[in-house]
Amino acid sequence: MPEVAFPFTAADVERTCTRLSEATMLPGSAFTDRSVFEWEVENFFRAGWVCVGHSSQLRERGQYISAQVGPTSVLVVADDDALPRAFINSCRHRGAKIVDEPEGQVRRLRCPYHAWSYGFDGSLTNAPFTDDLVDFDPSCMGLLPVELAVVEGLVLIDLSGEAGAPAEHIGDLAKHLARYRLAELRRGAGVVYDVNANWKTIIENYSECLHCPGIHPELSRLSHYLSGETLKGDGDWCGGSMELAESAETMAKAGGRNHREPIEGLSEADVRSVLYFAIFPNALVSLHPDYVMLHKLWPKAPNRTEVSCEWLFEDRTLTAADFDPSDAVEFWDQVNREDWRVCELTQRGLGDGSLPAGRYTKQEDAGHKFDVIVAHRYLEALGAEIPAR
Ligand code: FES
Ligand SMILES: [Fe+2]
Repeated sequence: MPEVAFPFTAADVERTCTRLSEATMLPGSAFTDRSVFEWEVENFFRAGWVCVGHSSQLRERGQYISAQVGPTSVLVVADDDALPRAFINSCRHRGAKIVDEPEGQVRRLRCPYHAWSYGFDGSLTNAPFTDDLVDFDPSCMGLLPVELAVVEGLVLIDLSGEAGAPAEHIGDLAKHLARYRLAELRRGAGVVYDVNANWKTIIENYSECLHCPGIHPELSRLSHYLSGETLKGDGDWCGGSMELAESAETMAKAGGRNHREPIEGLSEADVRSVLYFAIFPNALVSLHPDYVMLHKLWPKAPNRTEVSCEWLFEDRTLTAADFDPSDAVEFWDQVNREDWRVCELTQRGLGDGSLPAGRYTKQEDAGHKFDVIVAHRYLEALGAEIPAR
C-alpha cells in the first residue's frame, strides 16, 4: 500500500530513473501540487541534511545564523569555543522566536518577550519569577537541540536527527570543496531573491548550460556551454565543470579579467575552469578560480522559492586594500536574474501540472542525476521498489 497520496503513480516516477536516453522528466505535478510540496518540505528539508550557511558566519562567540525550515525556525550559534550549536529558535516559555534576523552576533541569547535567557550551549540561565514553580527544573528547560554538522565549511542541520553520516551525504564532493579551501573562505557579498518557481526547477536549471547561448549571452562569451564534463561520485549531489574561454580568467564583468589572486593551491586546470555542484536538497556551490558562490534554496510554496546567494573569498583577498567583489557580484546577479526569468516561465508554462512529462536531452545528465535522487525518495514513499542507481 502506498504510504502517501501523490498526484502521480510509481510508474510515472520510475520512468525518470531509467538511463538518460530513455528517461522522462519528473511528473509536472511534482512542481505544482501543494501536497507534493508539503511532503517535500517535511521529508527533504525537515528530515535530512540541509545547508543553512557557511562556517565563516560562526567564527566568533555569539555569532549566529537562523533559517526558516518549513514551519520551524532554526538557530545556529557559536559557543564560547566558537563551536557552533544548533537549536530550535523558540523560547521554552511561550515559544517566541529568540532571534528574528537571518544572522548577527549577540552577547547572550535573551528572549525578547519576557527575557528568559539561554547560554550559547542552550541551557536556561535566567527565567524571572519561576523560583516557586512546582516541578520546574531549569536544566530541563534549555533550547531544544538540533543535529548539526560542518562539512568543508558548509553548515548543515538535520531536524529529524536521523539523517545518517553527513560525510556520506556530501560524499566525493568533499575533496573538491577542500581543494577550493571552502572552509577557509569568508563572505564578501550576498543577495537574496524571491523566485516564482518551484525549488526543483531552479536546481534543474542550474544543472545544465544548454540554455546558456540563448539566455546568458555574456556568460557564454566567457565559457562555452559545451565545454567541461559531468563529474561522478558518491553522495547526494550532481554537477560538473565548464572551461573558461581563452580570454577569460574568471566569471565576472569586464570580460572576465581577474584582479584577484586565484585561491591558493589550485591546479592549472582548476584555474581555467569553474565547477558547478548542486547538493541535495538546497545548496548550489560554484567553485571559481578566485571565489566560491553559495546559493541556498528555501521553498516557500509550490511555485515560490527564496534564494540567498553569497560570494566567498579568501581572507587575503577580502582584506586587500583594493578588494572589490562588484565585478563578480554584478555578473552573477545578472545571470541569476536571467535564470529566474526562465524558471518562472517554466513554472507558469507547467500550469496545473497535467502536461505529459518532458524528455531530457543528452546535455542534461547532471540534472537527471538530481531528479533520480528525488524520484527515489518518491518511490520509497510510494512503497515501490527503488531501481539500482
Ligand atoms: S516567550 Fe520567551 S520569555 Fe516569554
Ligand atoms: Fe542559467
